[in-house]
Amino acid sequence: MLSEGTQNFLNIASQWVELFFLVLIAVAIITLTILYISDRFQTRHAIKRNYPIIGRFRYFFEHIGGFFRQYFFAMDREELPFNRAQRSWVYRAAKNLDNTIGFGSTRDTKKVGSILFVNCPYPTMSKDAVSPKPITVGESCRKPWVTSSFFGISAMSYGSVSQPAIRALSIGAAKAGTWLNTGEGGLSSYHLEGGADIIFQIGTAKYGARDEEGNLSDEKLKKIASYEQVKMIEIKLSQGAKPGKGGILPGDKVTAEIAEIRGIKEGVDSISPNRHSDINSNQDLIDMIGHIREVTGKPVGFKAVIGSPDWLDELFTDIKSQGIECAPDFITLDSSDGGTGAAPMTLMDDMGLTIQETLPVLINALKRHGLRERIKVFVSGKMVNPADVAWALCVGADFCNSARGFMFALGCIQSMQCHKNTCPTGVATHDKKLQRGLVVTEKSERVAYYAKNMMYAVGVIAHSCGVKGPRQLSQKHARMVMNDGLSISLKQLYENSPNKDV
Ligand SMILES: Cc1cc2nc3c(=O)[nH]c(=O)nc-3n(C[C@H](O)[C@H](O)[C@H](O)COP(=O)(O)O)c2cc1C
Repeated sequence: MLSEGTQNFLNIASQWVELFFLVLIAVAIITLTILYISDRFQTRHAIKRNYPIIGRFRYFFEHIGGFFRQYFFAMDREELPFNRAQRSWVYRAAKNLDNTIGFGSTRDTKKVGSILFVNCPYPTMSKDAVSPKPITVGESCRKPWVTSSFFGISAMSYGSVSQPAIRALSIGAAKAGTWLNTGEGGLSSYHLEGGADIIFQIGTAKYGARDEEGNLSDEKLKKIASYEQVKMIEIKLSQGAKPGKGGILPGDKVTAEIAEIRGIKEGVDSISPNRHSDINSNQDLIDMIGHIREVTGKPVGFKAVIGSPDWLDELFTDIKSQGIECAPDFITLDSSDGGTGAAPMTLMDDMGLTIQETLPVLINALKRHGLRERIKVFVSGKMVNPADVAWALCVGADFCNSARGFMFALGCIQSMQCHKNTCPTGVATHDKKLQRGLVVTEKSERVAYYAKNMMYAVGVIAHSCGVKGPRQLSQKHARMVMNDGLSISLKQLYENSPNKDV
């Protein structure tokens, strides 16, 4: 038997519980009624108008579907821009973990366009392997650049990626003995922090190298070139993800620090034109290269994504007619499927050609015009795994750049939010709370390991092909699977290519 006090307490408690549920049901009915009326009579969304309340789930599932697909439904080789197998390789290399797999490959090697390397019956033994020889860029400059590295960090501006990201990249690049490209947002102390070799990029707004009117400033250029660490200058003509597109940096993002680094007014919208206002022809480009080289004494080149192979022939013909000393010291060829912080979908999806098509065209054109030795070639575009880099070296590139590979090394999970300031890993956001997740000491190690393990793994491919190191790879060491299911040597493919004699 319960005591009278306990009985009273239970009665009161059960009345409260009853009341609570009645209120809950009333609130639910009122909320659903309001939602029903607002959905039924709103005019913007057809689904909600026709299916009030239930229609809302569509938007919710669409939003969370992206996250779920990545974890539960997408197969290892399915996603774009990078599938899980590609990302996993980077994560493991960056953590310096073993990248061995078991049982068998999940790659469909019979797919048309697949690249297969040509193993040698007598592979190179470790004792015979050689480290990559140093390459000199801009031999005739007052200060040429010499590097042994063949895999470095592609242009990403301070602004499109966060301050801790730039610091980790800078320190990691220095540890791996490789380079870091500033991107078009100017040179900051964060780029210089680690002591890595720096390629300073001049974008269309000439951030960091402009006068008050936005024109190229020789004075600023000299100051930038006075840093021993700044090894080369790159004029950005175009970028694969958004050829022919400039941009606006909204005034509220132009902090005192950004204004100082970029040479613009604090708090005022800053516009990047969609091309350099002073480069409107091959002659302008040649003159600009010559001018910057004269002012800085350092190698100068340009970055572009190719739309029409014809342009290369016209440019090289102009260069040859004026003497090869006026040539760019290097060309950075970007792929149309490259990444960026923010760009219109149609430019990302549909504009320009990929490096799979343009790298052989560029190498052939340089050879045809006798410029192959004079102009060094950097290439960028989805080179995140060793086979991608080995392919580029086989085709003829001197150096490979990666942007998103190094973002993965920094912890990027491909959440596709670079343009929203909500990057959950702190790589591409200015939100200090999110940046807290990116610990510079930890991630700089990963950047260094990724670069080193990448170069090591390309060496493994080279040795299997029977050459002593990555720089000895050539077109005969790779084959492409064709429509009939058989493969053809890249050497044979590109020799017979219609682009050969464009
Ligand atoms: C977040 C981000 C910012 C970038 N910023 C620049 C830039 O300032 N200048 C530039 O020339 N390219 C920029 N790029 C393009 C990369 O340098 C590179 O050319 C392109 O992403 C292809 O390389 P990937 O496939 O390794 O990313 C950026 C790319 C990303 C992802």
